[in-house]
This record gives sequence, C-alpha cells and structure tokens, in this order.
Amino acid sequence: MSRFIIEGGSKMEGEINVQGSKNAVLPILAAAILSDGKNVIYNCPRLRDVDMTIEVLKNLGCRIDFERDCLEVDASGISGYTIPDELMRQMRSSIIFLGAIITRFGKAEISMPGGCEIGNRPIDLHLSALRQLGVGITESHGFIHCVREKSTPADIHLNFPSVGATENIMLAACMTDGITTINNAAREPEIIDLERFLNRMGARIRGAGSDRITIEGVHKLYNAAHTIIPDRIVSATYLACALASGGTVVLKGADSSHMGAMLSVLKNMGAEIYEDKQKIVAVSPRRLKSIGTIKTMPYPGFPTDIQSPFMALATQCEGSSVFVENIFENRFRHIEELVRMGADIKADGRVAVVIGKSALTGARVAAPDLRGGAALIVAALAADGTTEIENITYIDRGYEALEERLSSCGIDIKRRE
Ligand code: UD1
Repeated sequence: MSRFIIEGGSKMEGEINVQGSKNAVLPILAAAILSDGKNVIYNCPRLRDVDMTIEVLKNLGCRIDFERDCLEVDASGISGYTIPDELMRQMRSSIIFLGAIITRFGKAEISMPGGCEIGNRPIDLHLSALRQLGVGITESHGFIHCVREKSTPADIHLNFPSVGATENIMLAACMTDGITTINNAAREPEIIDLERFLNRMGARIRGAGSDRITIEGVHKLYNAAHTIIPDRIVSATYLACALASGGTVVLKGADSSHMGAMLSVLKNMGAEIYEDKQKIVAVSPRRLKSIGTIKTMPYPGFPTDIQSPFMALATQCEGSSVFVENIFENRFRHIEELVRMGADIKADGRVAVVIGKSALTGARVAAPDLRGGAALIVAALAADGTTEIENITYIDRGYEALEERLSSCGIDIKRRE
C-alpha cells in the first residue's frame, strides 16, 4: 500500500498548473459513447477515477488512446450494454453511464451501486427520472435491468438538485422525441461542461447552470472535441495547502468564477486572494481568523467536497469555526485522524466545531476517503514533524501528480510504496 511521507513546517511557495475537473470529465466520458466515432477530450486529468472510467469504456467495446492530457474515445466498435459488478464496486459514479447506455442501446444492465465511504448514496432520483422517460426498470440479484419501452420526453422535478441525477437525465433524454425539462436541476459548473460537450455533439440542451434545464431530443449525435474545465475542488485544496503552510501560491488556469463560496471563506479568514481570468493568487496573512459557520449546500453554496480540507485549515485559525455537513451523512471521518495530529474538534451528527489554533504534530494517519485524504495533506503541511498518510489510493482518485505539484512549491513530500 502506498503512503505519503510529509515533513511539515515549510512554507509553500510557487506556481501550480490546475488539472482538469474530475467531476466534469466522468460524465463527459460517458457521453462520448453517444456518437459513432472518435471524441477527443483535452485537459483530461490522469487519475485513478479516470483510469477506472476507461476500464468501463473498454468493457463496453470502446477503443481508447490517452496521450499526455488528450484522451480519444472511439465508440464505433461499442457492443456491450452492461457494467460488471467489479467495475461498479470500484467506482460508484459509473452510475452515470446508465443514461448514456440506455440512449445508445435502448437497454442497460448494471450492478446495484452500494454505499460508499461517505454515505449511503441512494439512486432513487436517477431511477424515478428514467422511468418518467419511458424506461422500464427491474431490480434483481443485485442488478438493475433497464429497457426503454417508449421514447417519451418528461417534465421532471427533482426533489433534491442531485448532480448525478441531473447528468443522467441529460444523457438519457438527449435523443428522445420531444422536449424534456429538469426542474430543480443541479447547477454545478460540471453540468454546464456536460451541456457544452453534448451540444458540440449536436444535442439541443439549454439552461445548464440554472435550476431549469430543457433538452430537445435530436436523432443523431456527432463526434466532437472538448476541453475540460479546471477542477475547482482541487484548486481550493491547493489554496488551503498554501494557507496552512503560511505561504503563497499561484494557481495557473484556475477559474475563480466557479469558486465564489470557497474564496469568500478564505477571504474571511484574512487571506489575500487575487483573481484574474488566468490565475488565482493566495497570500497568507500573519494570522488566520476563524470562519464562523460553514454549511455545505448544492452549488453555488459551499461544496461538500471541500468541507474536509477547509476543516483541516480551520485548525490553524484563531477561535472557533463550525461546519454543518448537509449533503452526505458520513463525511466527518477525517476528524478522528485530525484529532490524532492534535486538532481540537468535536462532532455531533452533522455538526463539527473546530477550536483553533492548534499546534498540530506529525503522526501516522490514514485517508478515510478522497477529500478526507486531502484534509490530511493540508494538516500535514501545518504540522510540526513528519506525517505519514496511508490509504493514499483514495487521494489518487482525484488529485493528479499531487506530490510533484507540492514538491515544486518547496514541500517535502514523498510517495513510498
Ligand atoms: C457528485 C460529485 C461528488 C459531490 C456531489 C455533491 C461526481 C462524480 N461526484 O456526486 O463529488 O460530492 O456531487 O456535490 O460528480 N441523493 C439521493 N438520491 C439520488 C441521488 C442523490 O437521495 O438518487 C442524495 C445523496 O445521497 C446526497 C445528495 O443527494 O445526499 C447529493 O448527491 P448528488 O448530488 O447526487 O451527488 P453525486 O452526483 O453522487
């Protein structure tokens, strides 16, 4: 099992090129099966989740070519319409293939995604929307069997703006007859990126980024090329790293327009943040101030994905900060690890109170999940001494060449197998 060994105490100083967005590229790769030839994706991050998505695509019969950051998906030889259990278990977000496979084949078979580290993660909203789009669904022996019985558009109301359900509906409805609407749609920038890619392929989708998306079905989709948006969660993680270390970072290629809620929290902590179209610069203040209460919300609210890295940063703020996790019920598992490093954090249910500033010390800790692992990196930079982080395969799911990027900014971080 790989580990990171990090020596705390150095100020992070330097420039980082921000990777493409994991959560944007995954549904776009599912969409790539909707035309009959090669789709080209630029700025594709090299991540374990992308590798697993490539396995799903190969399993369906796609040919893949991945050079530098350019991923070509050739779906002309696609024949399969099932996602086997072992792939589904490795990556729960493969559920996003359901809508795309149904559009391509009129049927799909996937194993039931179980819960995961951060919670139950039901898929009732996905399935109910698909039923409204004329898909017959039966569940048996841990598998979901879907058959498109009629190609009906629908007026769908989500009772929660689920990111994955919104994307699945866009993929399932883009080639039905008539106009489908999604009300209370998720508004995340990654949904706008999916809309852009599908429209480049010839789809007619409007409204992504608002809470009402309309999808006018078309008969055929064509090959397209597309550049993935920068990863806003990774960007915010590097800002937290720089501030935890008392340093300065320039994030090249970051898009601050996707990061309003996160940047406003950092500014309230006293960080100096400069933004323009090409970059974000963060400069540490002499002392970080506490940030009051942060509640995770659907976009444009504060993202659940950055709750844990910012909680690690809050241990370095003077005074108390409160975190309320409204999206996933089991997303506080990093707390126990941060406490091992000397953090003063008390949690009850979905609320955690951090009392700062704590003098963190290096310790042996284990990443509980992807973003919880990122929180331990942030804490390790602030800590005195050596931190050893185990289970870093979680971190590899979402952070491309993390140790190279941090090393280039003067951080002493090594990967040990
Ligand atoms: C996506 C992101 C994930 C992020 C999350 C919330 C990807 C690959 N992953 O996950 O990083 O943390 O958005 O911003 O893009 N829910 C239901 N029933 C459903 C679907 C969801 O009850 O059918 C609930 C979930 O349990 C959760 C909430 O809705 O409590 C949000 O989930 P959702 O927005 O669907 O997250 P994902 O798309 O799984």
